[in-house]
Amino acid sequence: PVAERVEDLLGRLTLAEKAGQLSQYFYLAGFGEPPADLDIDALPPEHQAYLRQPAMVDAAVESGGAGSVLFVTKASVANRLQRLAVEGSRHGIPLIFGFDVIHGLRTIFPVPIAQAASWDPDAVAAAQSIAAREARAVGIHWTFAPMVDIARDPRWGRIIEGPGEDPYLGAVFAAAQVRGFQGDLGPRNILAGPKHFAGYGAARGGRDYDDAEVSDSELYNVYLPPFQAAIDAGAANVMSAYMDFNGVPASGNARLLTDILRGELGFDGFVVSDANAVKSLETQHFARSATDAGARAVTAGLDMEMCIFDPAFGSLPEAVSQGLVDEATIDTAVRRVLTAKFRLGLFENPYVDEQNTDLVLDAAEHRELARAAAERTAVLLKNEQAALPLNTAGVGSIAVIGQLADSKRDTLGPWVFVHDTAETVSILDGIRTRAGDQVSVEHAPGAGIPARRYASMFDRQDPDVVNTPAGYDDDTEIDRAVALAAGADVAVVVVGERQNQIGENASTSTLDLPGRQLEQLRRITATGTPVVLLVMSGRPLDLRWAQENVPAILQVWYPGSRGGDAVAAVLFGDTSPAGRLPFTWPRHVGQVPMVYSHLRTFQPENQDKRYWDEESAPLYPFGHGLSYAAFRYDDLRADREQVVIGDTAMVSVNVTNTSGREADEVVQLYIHQRYGTSSRPVRELKGFQRITLTAGETRTVVFDLGPSELRYWSAATHGWVQDATTLDIWAGGSSTAGLSTVLTVTAAKESDD
Ligand code: IFM
Repeated sequence: PVAERVEDLLGRLTLAEKAGQLSQYFYLAGFGEPPADLDIDALPPEHQAYLRQPAMVDAAVESGGAGSVLFVTKASVANRLQRLAVEGSRHGIPLIFGFDVIHGLRTIFPVPIAQAASWDPDAVAAAQSIAAREARAVGIHWTFAPMVDIARDPRWGRIIEGPGEDPYLGAVFAAAQVRGFQGDLGPRNILAGPKHFAGYGAARGGRDYDDAEVSDSELYNVYLPPFQAAIDAGAANVMSAYMDFNGVPASGNARLLTDILRGELGFDGFVVSDANAVKSLETQHFARSATDAGARAVTAGLDMEMCIFDPAFGSLPEAVSQGLVDEATIDTAVRRVLTAKFRLGLFENPYVDEQNTDLVLDAAEHRELARAAAERTAVLLKNEQAALPLNTAGVGSIAVIGQLADSKRDTLGPWVFVHDTAETVSILDGIRTRAGDQVSVEHAPGAGIPARRYASMFDRQDPDVVNTPAGYDDDTEIDRAVALAAGADVAVVVVGERQNQIGENASTSTLDLPGRQLEQLRRITATGTPVVLLVMSGRPLDLRWAQENVPAILQVWYPGSRGGDAVAAVLFGDTSPAGRLPFTWPRHVGQVPMVYSHLRTFQPENQDKRYWDEESAPLYPFGHGLSYAAFRYDDLRADREQVVIGDTAMVSVNVTNTSGREADEVVQLYIHQRYGTSSRPVRELKGFQRITLTAGETRTVVFDLGPSELRYWSAATHGWVQDATTLDIWAGGSSTAGLSTVLTVTAAKESDD
């Protein structure tokens, strides 16, 4: 049994070797090998340290000073390092290789926020199982995903990596991803590591890494449910967060990492730090030294430190001798790490089959699944004058405008490292292929998207990254784009942000379209050519003008390897869009943070007058997304008038496709509790189903409403409660659904006499 093997091994390790098992190193050569003839000694000392880092990792592995390595994406390198551990180190304990497999490895699926927009947990699980399979084929055992941080401020760049604003959707999406990655932990699966525990999305001002002040009510009702779902689905790992959480750094926070994570959420796997987050306890002026930082992190419940150089955990033996931590605490952490290695079968099968790698990575069926997944993510924000779908019979020429339209690298989105741009289909490629020879498709890049104020931390490692070159002649390029659009039957204008303008360390102070994209859009619209606007972004952008003036707007996100084919399929009506917004789309940056599930508060009748200078309603509500079909909802009812606390009522609604074409609809169920121990949001998502209805078909969709949907954490009682109350229930195609009914929740069954 695993536990016995763990104890046996643990008993043979020195304290330094135990600290080694808890140390995880980046492998910097994983970002790209330096040229063989480079004279490292001739370089400035800081560059030398980086270039010598891989050799330092080799030495650490051989001496038993490293238990894990990240950023190895080649099977041959994984095997070489693994051989050092298994054959070269004293106990032969295999390494566990981790990596950011966020939305695919070689086959790139739509970015996570887009996958959430599919409202299709099975498709999301399928995507992550392909990602797992490809990762395992290069020797990766564990992913730093899913990112399950709820994000309510779209200025925060990492909104793109998670499920958006809603805890219910976030929980479903978290569990689906864990299922997809881990499966039954077979040879094609990898460990999942939901992150970043906890409240990282609440970063003040949307500024990445800034501190989060989170009330207990928000913590339990908003930020923790996706983690709970991931843990219930069996997640083997959790990553801690960087920021201060209510004044205590999350990576040294015993309340978070032990009391809540293990004590309340029932997590029994191992916790890894975010990169360099343990040493950052000193930087954040919480710990007095690196030794103190290591001691306090492990004491708080953090098991493995991710770092580039000199782990603070390297000084755990020193910390023990200083009395800062006892060895039993370190043993607990080592047990958890070794258990994960045994569970994965690494002691029996430490190596990856190098002959198999290309076979898996080259699989065309993976790319086909990525195309299908991307089709499911597109959100039709607006469609008037029957602008979409495009009708090839009536369209002889299409002007495709925008730098993003033919940028393969941007089509893939952030957090990709093993992609192949040669097999990536841009939007321009996709439209060209789908439109066929009879339609002229011309492209003009038009308005330049200005580069970030400072380089993205990943750009240096990415040879494919696209930035608008210095000296780009915006005036001339915009004129050309407008002229091209003026002469075409239809203009498909792609606007948005580059992939390096969103993600980690990529927060923004504005939601405006970067550069002169809006000015260009206005000029193209003024030509009279019908415009279809495609938005490539991972956050809501300010589309007020477009909403007023452009007939069709489609949110395409960063759709991945076959994204262009998927976008073209939606544009030409091969499939009907059915993605739904996983966040509230504000009109203006000044409205954020903004969620649909706000409290009712004083003067609810004036909810739409909260700003005197701007509407307080969003541009598009949470859950919004149009279809080429039309749906009717009726007969919403509960199977009883009253439900007793603890029991489950069934709520059903009939949904009819009233159009002449088959299409998917996302049926959404919302509730509001009229009174109780605490005030509750005006609406909360409590169920959804994405269904396919043929023309004219009616389906009865059924949802459960029981304790798991109705209980919440109350600041009044400082605990979980389910109230006797009256519930309003709505069903429909967005969070503004109008069809409603009422259900009473009673404290006890009426007695018979
Ligand atoms: O996994 C990531 C984390 O989400 C942010 N910091 C770096 C880690 C490793 O790449």
